[in-house]
Amino acid sequence: MEIKEANGKLGVLVVGIGGAVATTMITGTLAARKGLAKPIGSIAEMAKMRVKSGEEKLIKDIVPIANLNDIVFGGWDIFPENAYNAALCAEVLKEKDLNAVKDELEAIVPMPAAFDHTWAKRLNGTYVKDSANRAEMIEQIRQDIRNFKAANNCDRVTVLWSASTEIYIPLSDEHMSLAALEKAIAENKTDVISPSMCYAYASIAEGCPFVMGAPNLCLDTPAMWEFSKKMQVPIAGKDFKSGQTLMKTVLAPMFKTRMLGVNGWFSTNILGNRDGAVLDDPDNFKTKEVSKLSVIENIFEPEKNPDLYGDVYHKVRINYYPPRKDNKEAWDNIDIFGWMGYPMEIKVNFLCRDSILAAPIALDLVLFCDLAQRAGMYGTQYWLSFFLKSPMHEFNEEPVHDLFQQWRMVKQTIREMIGEKEPNYLD
Ligand SMILES: NC(=O)c1ccc[n+]([C@@H]2O[C@H](COP(=O)([O-])OP(=O)(O)OC[C@H]3O[C@@H](n4cnc5c(N)ncnc54)[C@H](O)[C@@H]3O)[C@@H](O)[C@H]2O)c1
Repeated sequence: MEIKEANGKLGVLVVGIGGAVATTMITGTLAARKGLAKPIGSIAEMAKMRVKSGEEKLIKDIVPIANLNDIVFGGWDIFPENAYNAALCAEVLKEKDLNAVKDELEAIVPMPAAFDHTWAKRLNGTYVKDSANRAEMIEQIRQDIRNFKAANNCDRVTVLWSASTEIYIPLSDEHMSLAALEKAIAENKTDVISPSMCYAYASIAEGCPFVMGAPNLCLDTPAMWEFSKKMQVPIAGKDFKSGQTLMKTVLAPMFKTRMLGVNGWFSTNILGNRDGAVLDDPDNFKTKEVSKLSVIENIFEPEKNPDLYGDVYHKVRINYYPPRKDNKEAWDNIDIFGWMGYPMEIKVNFLCRDSILAAPIALDLVLFCDLAQRAGMYGTQYWLSFFLKSPMHEFNEEPVHDLFQQWRMVKQTIREMIGEKEPNYLD
């Protein structure tokens, strides 16, 4: 596989650039550039793997990942604050850390958002595009991408959705083919064409990889798979796998490997940031719930292991609790059973920082999608499932949720990129 070098500037356009995850990702990247912080949690920056020679190397020394110094950040938000003020409001990072890159953060000013209140009823944005219909919305986003690319002299652009979760909608006929999607856009069917679909469509149409960090349906439709293949653009989604689900995709494979049974898994969270406020609306929470629920069943394969996982009661809750801000607390109670069916309980209490966990995932998804494009890969990037709560998969395929299988897929893809076969040693 021939991989083009990462020459020139990489534009990273973030939808929801004033959000907690986006501002944390940007601040950390700027700080890493100045040598003020290490990019902890970033696979693209810090992970190593073995190559054929037996040597262990940094992934970024094996394949040409864009240099952090070459990234130019931009994006859209429904509020006009620059990234410095938005990061202050998000209250994730300390002021001293923001001040270390204040000038650069202040220079990042959002473009007005493509927004529709119906899709996020808890948000009342004022800084939004005046679009007569969905087709015009798409055209405006495309123009933004072109303007940004030209103004910042970018060689390439990747678009990342790190904006709020939209309301739940099921797949419908309008999403089943590119022709049907384009017809629905032309007919301005605003109930099935979400703003995120407009960003995704515009991005793919401009030849820019698109990453979906929320659980929105958006990219996860046959229409978008078809479009991304037609335009030869990589896409990845959906929903950053940052905290509780990360834990699940490590614990569940352990139970299964040891042939321990599970009959209940109750997960609850308290969260007080804007994401928590949006998810407090049942329609928006439903999107997240579907994403969070799919994991366990896929790993346990109850149809193959009915004695162990034939009747697992799985419940997930997110409670909006403002005092905690971005410092989410998650509790899991897992009812397991062992030898002769004797029950046991496991309690997990994860006091995490949501955006500290999500920021490196967002950056890695962008860097790896850019790499994929330079390697000539397009369509759904299954190998990036490692970073995602609900890995996209076509109808005839099963998603892979087990974190260690997902990690193997990352390494295997990198090996294929440099023409190496899977090694015969344990890696
Ligand atoms: N933090 C995590 O650990 C985590 C994990 C998985 C997924 N996510 C998802 O990532 C997304 C971002 O999370 P966050 O904590 O940064 O949320 P946030 O509420 O702090 O940020 C979202 C931003 O998106 C903006 N926005 C909303 N609709 C928009 C639109 N149509 N166009 C442009 N901007 C828009 C909002 O104004 C806000 O600034 C959410 O969808 C969340 O569910 C977060």
